[in-house]
Amino acid sequence: MTAEGMGRRDFLRHSAWAGSAVVFSVAGGTLLSACAGSEHSATKDFTFAQISDPHIGFSGKANPDVTGSFMEAIAQVNALPERPAFVVNTGDLTHTSTPAQFDQVKQLQSTLKTDRVFVVPGEHDAVDDGGTKYLAAFGAGSQGNGWYSFDFNGVHFLALNNSFNLATLGHLGADQLAFIKKDLAPLKSDVPLVVLAHIPLFDMFPAWGWATDDAVQALSYMRRFGAVTVLNGHVHQVMSKVEGNITFHTATTTAYPLPAPGHAAAPAPLVVPSDKLHAALGIRQATYVAKRTGLALVDEVLA
Ligand SMILES: [Fe+2]
Ligand SMILES: [Fe+2]
Repeated sequence: MTAEGMGRRDFLRHSAWAGSAVVFSVAGGTLLSACAGSEHSATKDFTFAQISDPHIGFSGKANPDVTGSFMEAIAQVNALPERPAFVVNTGDLTHTSTPAQFDQVKQLQSTLKTDRVFVVPGEHDAVDDGGTKYLAAFGAGSQGNGWYSFDFNGVHFLALNNSFNLATLGHLGADQLAFIKKDLAPLKSDVPLVVLAHIPLFDMFPAWGWATDDAVQALSYMRRFGAVTVLNGHVHQVMSKVEGNITFHTATTTAYPLPAPGHAAAPAPLVVPSDKLHAALGIRQATYVAKRTGLALVDEVLA
């Protein structure tokens, strides 16, 4: 199947939080088979892990111990059968952006058994200061308000910040859009792209700030690529959507569940029975398979 053929199929898959591991190989495999047959001689297999929304500093009935559940998620990543080449944390690292919370996140992440941890900020990392403390803690080596890109085994990663404009969640802004355009310009269209951003780059539920108002412009620079995978956090639940050559996957959280879109008056922390909390939290393992040009995602609930 060609990427063009996939473009006519647009489906939204919504997984409930409760239940056992959610396997994404169907959605991911289908999408990425779109460029099977193109040359990926430069790519090599690897595995990485995604964690999201640890909200260190949160305290409330929805999870009285977010540090503990973040540590459990880290232990689960450390116990994966294949050691991840790196780990990505897709934002809301802290709950209220204090220096102590950022320090604690750094300390806890240093216990991950991996070579490197890549982070992007969430809006909770920009409370009261537009992200200044986040940038002081995690901005090294990034551009603008903390965006950057990197390559790994032939796959190109874009790490974006659509979370600092608290009045308009989410928003990339003109400077970042210019960065994306320039960053992608030299790449061949058969290079697999993975985009990391806290807030979804598709309209999951705009009324709750679960969308990015200028995402269409950013995605226009990605349409020519054979396979684009966007990994988000922010919504504290697993959802996936395919739009042509682009697949969007939101991740769950290690902190507390949020309501399904539109199923509450507001996206406030959801209190579930304590014996159900672990089933709402989790981690994600992503495996890139060069020969199949596939990125297979497996979502695991916290053990
Ligand atoms: Fe969050
Ligand atoms: Fe968020």
